[in-house]
Amino acid sequence: GKGNYRHFMEKELHEHPAVIGDTLRQYVDPATRAVARPALPFDPATLPRLWLSGCGSAFLVCNTARYWFETLARLPVDCDVASELRYRDPPLTKGGAAMFVSQSGETADNLAAMKLLRAGGQSLVSVVNVPESTMARESDTTLMTVAGPEISVASTKAFTAQLSVMACLAINFARARGAIDAAEESRLTAALLEVPEHAAKLLDSSDEIEAVAADIRDARDVLYLGRGSMFPIALEGALKLKELSYIHAEGYAAGEMKHGPIALIDASVPVISLCPSGPLFEKTASNLQEAAARGGRIIAFTDEEGAPALRRFASRVVVLPKVDPFVAPILHAIPVQMLAYHVAVLKGTDVDQPRNLAKAVTVE
Ligand code: M6R
Repeated sequence: GKGNYRHFMEKELHEHPAVIGDTLRQYVDPATRAVARPALPFDPATLPRLWLSGCGSAFLVCNTARYWFETLARLPVDCDVASELRYRDPPLTKGGAAMFVSQSGETADNLAAMKLLRAGGQSLVSVVNVPESTMARESDTTLMTVAGPEISVASTKAFTAQLSVMACLAINFARARGAIDAAEESRLTAALLEVPEHAAKLLDSSDEIEAVAADIRDARDVLYLGRGSMFPIALEGALKLKELSYIHAEGYAAGEMKHGPIALIDASVPVISLCPSGPLFEKTASNLQEAAARGGRIIAFTDEEGAPALRRFASRVVVLPKVDPFVAPILHAIPVQMLAYHVAVLKGTDVDQPRNLAKAVTVE
């Protein structure tokens, strides 16, 4: 049941800390702070290329993971939504590998993409939340997210659990490929292991998120911006807002603003930006400043280090704990999901069962 929560989604949001912690415990040895993973059907040290496939939020996990695998592990990644991948018919070289991310493990397009890549001689790994699912059965290796049952149609805890698995794999592959040393591995796993505690604090202080929700509830359109690994989280924010509140929302790479979307900017379009401190901060901040100069109402999610610069032009700055940029996408996913939840509550939409949507999309 829902316990004392109004909706399954609210309950599941509050499970983020436990689920991230439980998932990390499956993949990180707390004593050595090294990643310990099950055997895989390929050797990450020599893997030439990795395919990543998912739908909806699971695709956005793949997209985030692509930044991690490429930047940290120096592994070439191709990432697409399963409904495109299954018909793209890309040239495949034997010896490659593919990973399929899915909460349900039953998503029709992802299963079809699996068949295509299997036929092309790729070894298959699934990252699923349901151990007895079809995708688990059809893959060579299954990596479990330990999220427990997710009832709400909008994915919440499964999303951060999937990110946690992918982050561990990126660290592990980076080590196997000689891209990082043991000290860097333990620094990164330590950063991951701190996420549950930060997540718990975020969930305890929802007042600010509720204030942002009140700010945007009457908007017709909302833009979400992010750069690097925060770009897929901007897309996740936009997807969740559309799904739950029926407000039109789009996510963009911050640097794409001046190639079109900035034409939309006026005081009626809130611009939500995910802008933690780190190597990409200055670039993102300057994109936001440009939007502010055109009358845009900037709502920025950042940390203590990023806040002062953003306060100069943003109408609202939400300060999250400062974490290593590597784990920032996992942490920032939580307030964007909370925001969509609170807007939906204000608008009185059916939070757990949004119109026209199904929890598992088992038909094409
Ligand atoms: O079960 P799956 O993870 O394969 O489902 C994929 C998508 O249908 C799912 O993530 C969908 O986008 C959610 N409703 C997003 O909140």
